Amino acid sequence: STYEHILTETPKPGVGLITLNRPKALNALSSPLFTELNDALSKYDNDKDIGAIVITGSEKAFAAGADIKEMAPLTFAAAYSNNFIAPWSHLATSIRKPVIAAVSGYALGGGCELALMCDIIYCTSKATFGQPEIKLGTIPGAGGSQRLTRAIGKSRAMELILTGKNFSGKEAGEWGMAAKVVDGGKEELLEEAVKTAETIAGYSHVPVVAAKEVVNKSQELSLREGVEYERRMFHGLFGSKDQKIGMTAFAEKKKPEWSNE
Ligand code: HXC
Repeated sequence: STYEHILTETPKPGVGLITLNRPKALNALSSPLFTELNDALSKYDNDKDIGAIVITGSEKAFAAGADIKEMAPLTFAAAYSNNFIAPWSHLATSIRKPVIAAVSGYALGGGCELALMCDIIYCTSKATFGQPEIKLGTIPGAGGSQRLTRAIGKSRAMELILTGKNFSGKEAGEWGMAAKVVDGGKEELLEEAVKTAETIAGYSHVPVVAAKEVVNKSQELSLREGVEYERRMFHGLFGSKDQKIGMTAFAEKKKPEWSNE
């Protein structure tokens, strides 16, 4: 790839893997890094051969936060007029295929927020999450106060954001923020994340994108609106070829051959 701060590869059919790669800064999320990340995400999202995406970092750091050295001299006027951090929303608002975060090492500040923007978090038990912004004289700015609170509840999120205390991958699992906690290192973690991405990529992309969309609606809508939204989407899928392929294959005791239509 032509990127400077990230690596991209296809470890298994249908799986796009993005590795944050600024080792000297523990993958601090500078604006140039995020521009590349967004570009790679869009390319995979638009690639019909890709069904799921994994984002990972190094053994030592998923990402140690937004780039503090870039932020230190920023003024209100510059941050406001250039809508600093707004491009980070691309992952949460525009990427329609499932994204799995595979977190080893530090996921602090913006790194924790990046993981929370992903659809599924896998981590090592020794991973270190946290929102330490308060120690730098500021607050989370990429959704941490909202997504961490939804992920682990208000009291815990409030405590973590107000004290700046870190929490472990083991705790992230116990609190329901991480879907899987791996006892080994990054290699074992990545293997698990890629395996899950491969499973997802093996299904028709049509219901996969729909499933992600309806689950995400649960974070935005009232229960009644969400259930109605889900039902309409469910109705809509009767218009897809793959609903017919999937249910006919079941009845005929065959393996479905998805058309992605
Ligand atoms: C810029 C960073 C960085 C960061 C680490 N580095 N984190 N540079 N921004 N967020 C750089 C260090 O300056 C250092 O560069 C090199 O990476 C290695 O880091 P060390 O500190 O020497 O490593 P270590 O002693 O192992 O400590 C690891 C660490 C520590 C505990 C993770 O680096 C740390 O506390 N980092 C900051 C964590 C943080 O506060 N994150 C939140 C940022 S605010 P040199 O050149 O000295 O070798 C944030 C706001 C989000 O994310 C809101 C909007 C998105």
